[in-house]
Amino acid sequence: MRVVVAESGDAAGRVAADMVERFIGDSVSPALGLATGETMQAVFSELVRRHRENGLSFAGVHAFLLDEYLDLDRHDPCAYRNVAHRVLARHVDIGPGAVHGPNAQADDLDAECARYEREVRDAGIGLQLLGIGCNGHIAFNEPGSPLASTTRVVALSDRTRADNARFFPDGQPVPDRAITQGIATVGAAGELVLLACGEHKADAVARAVEGPVTPGLPASAIQLHANVTVVLDPPAASGLGCPRVAPAPRGSDEGMLIGPAGDI
Ligand code: F6R
Repeated sequence: MRVVVAESGDAAGRVAADMVERFIGDSVSPALGLATGETMQAVFSELVRRHRENGLSFAGVHAFLLDEYLDLDRHDPCAYRNVAHRVLARHVDIGPGAVHGPNAQADDLDAECARYEREVRDAGIGLQLLGIGCNGHIAFNEPGSPLASTTRVVALSDRTRADNARFFPDGQPVPDRAITQGIATVGAAGELVLLACGEHKADAVARAVEGPVTPGLPASAIQLHANVTVVLDPPAASGLGCPRVAPAPRGSDEGMLIGPAGDI
């Protein structure tokens, strides 16, 4: 596992954008896994800037969402499909229909979860962007999710609903269910990039990176993956125990690379 501590949240976004840009450039038919949420904003803003100013092209990219709320109108601005369109897709040259996600309006949700699981596995995600919840969730795999879980309908925890209330207009309840890729689905991606910013993430980050691998902290499952980069700002890194300093990754001048698990 590589851990990069960038000097700020924006710098962390640039480190992740570097990795996305390299992945797109190196792949014939890139399948990119997208997270949504506040942390990803810095990554998407930087990718949009690079598209506008440097010609970074998303023409051949297929993007796959990690999760989607249930029980929202399909046009609800808070639906992740619409968020992904608003913050990234509509600003770049990604093809029409190239952003994929579970259909939260499907009549048979179990069948839809199985369909999306197949679609994601068949695409073969090359690089998966991940955020982390304050309770250690990845995608919407809440504490207690089996490490072998696949795409399914889940109940959102009170903590997650309270944390995400800031994205919803006053008076609109945060849905209490969602479709999410499972922990095993996420783990099947070729490369994981987990991004976290802010002191409120420090405890979850420390447990994910240095604690035991346990369903009680779903993000700890990243330790089982052979190709993981955790990109942090200093407050999010503040819970890590005595890091070993190592040279910054090649091509990046944004942060220092540390190996808290001693296994870079
Ligand atoms: C959203 C997702 C979630 C978020 C996490 C962090 O697609 O997968 O796991 O990444 O809740 O959200 P923010 O970045 O808003 O703190």
